Amino acid sequence: MTTYTLRKGSPAKTRTDLVVIGVAHSPKGDLEACPGAEEVAAAYGRRFKPLLTSMGFRGDAGEVLRLPTAGTIKAGQLLVVGLGPRESLTPERVRRATGVAARNIGNAASVALALPAQDADHVRAVAEGFISGAYSFKRYKSKSDDAGLADVSILSDAARRQDSVAALEAAETVGALVNRARDWVNTPPNDLTPELFADEVVTLGKELTGRGRTPKVAIEVLGADELESLGCGGILGVGQGSANPPRLVRLTWAPEDARASVAFVGKGITYDSGGLTIKPGSSMATMKYDMGGAAAVIAATFAIAELGLPVAVTTYAPMAENMPSGNAMRPGDVLTMYDGQSVEVTNTDAEGRLILADAIAMAAESDVDSIVDAATLTGPCIVALGEKVSGLFGDDATVAAVAAAAEASGEMLWRLPITDEARNAVRTESKVADVLQHNWVRWGSALFAAAFLDEFTGGKPWAHLDIAGPAWNTGGPWGHVPSGATGYGITTLVAYAAALADGPASGSEEPVGSD
Ligand code: BES
Ligand code: MN
Ligand code: ZN
Repeated sequence: MTTYTLRKGSPAKTRTDLVVIGVAHSPKGDLEACPGAEEVAAAYGRRFKPLLTSMGFRGDAGEVLRLPTAGTIKAGQLLVVGLGPRESLTPERVRRATGVAARNIGNAASVALALPAQDADHVRAVAEGFISGAYSFKRYKSKSDDAGLADVSILSDAARRQDSVAALEAAETVGALVNRARDWVNTPPNDLTPELFADEVVTLGKELTGRGRTPKVAIEVLGADELESLGCGGILGVGQGSANPPRLVRLTWAPEDARASVAFVGKGITYDSGGLTIKPGSSMATMKYDMGGAAAVIAATFAIAELGLPVAVTTYAPMAENMPSGNAMRPGDVLTMYDGQSVEVTNTDAEGRLILADAIAMAAESDVDSIVDAATLTGPCIVALGEKVSGLFGDDATVAAVAAAAEASGEMLWRLPITDEARNAVRTESKVADVLQHNWVRWGSALFAAAFLDEFTGGKPWAHLDIAGPAWNTGGPWGHVPSGATGYGITTLVAYAAALADGPASGSEEPVGSD
């Protein structure tokens, strides 16, 4: 357990194992100590910059250097992280640099962060960056090399301000849930079947409720029989090939003072073998992360409730395992979805859209202002945008709101269109059913998938995040993002809800600002 404290204090005089400071560079390339680092730089005096330069340190983002202090400051070790160009020490840059620091503290038991934390936004970035960057998944390692970091102090001149204190609290709440979602996504698929995933959600709900209190988030777990009576042909069709039956988890956060309402939908394929349209072995290896969308919307919902945001959230997480077998869905099958539309299946590996169709239709039927879904939906979206950027689709207003939320949380996304051509293909190219699931045209498949989903939104304001790329980091860690499961999307969804909470009260006659 690590304890985080926010305090005003001198990094040169603080008794701690290790102090972290940030160093940036000027346009000409000169090193410059960042806010927070001044006292440490002063303690080293004129030696400071030449010392860093002699070690090859240039102040670039991502750089890190550990130095012995030899009594220059109270702490035994100094960790210097690069912050890049001095002009724009944005919260996102600070978040990433703090993430780098978190992975490089070695065996220190206590750490003081003397990084730019001059206001609440930067305090939040430092805390989020550290909590997120310190994550690692050790559940299946028999030997633990956990050094046991006990105390992290965030040094800030704004430490006594209420908004800074609240920022640290929010970062701890959201950070813990991001890390929980990463655990789920990293958990191997034999230990995270639809049933076990749903159990995990229930367990988390109990942990957050505490003894004797009423849960903030109501949790319903629907099994195969209930899905059958509801007519969820998509979830059942995808799940029917597996020995592990599907689930639909529904979460409800309904605060009395709700100023808006939103439905979140997340793809929860606990393993995607492709089904009968089976994937090549190399593409299957990481397909445990095909439930990253469900993990994100679930974690975001709990975070919104823990933060007490006055926005009603209903979250739908359809969970299924996509497997080939004698019972498996076939290319050629026709399924009837929750809203009664029939779908011709032509590729069992395009399973995500089938489970999402039921859940989106269910959300669309409810009385919500908007629907946002997150799904590891298409490999072609990764081809288009790379591993770090998600694809964003939907109507202008919802897309703009989600894009603004992503900007505020430092997650990268890019809008892609849903063309008339894609809509037409979905609507007209099946000879037997209302809607075609997949058309085997290689180009623009992420657009086709989004067009398919839109057939089930009932015209409600809607945005779709194709997170196939950024939900998983195949390479090494960068910034605050670990290797493997990233938790992508959670902070964006929380920021989206926070912006709705700040917006004008919907349907309220109360003039803004009255008591
Ligand atoms: N889960 C995959 C998408 C995916 C691929 C996620 C790679 C992460 C990494 C999805 O179910 C799928 O198989 N999609 C197809 C789309 C195709 C049928 C248009 C794909 O990627 O080939
Ligand atoms: Mn698939
Ligand atoms: Zn999939």
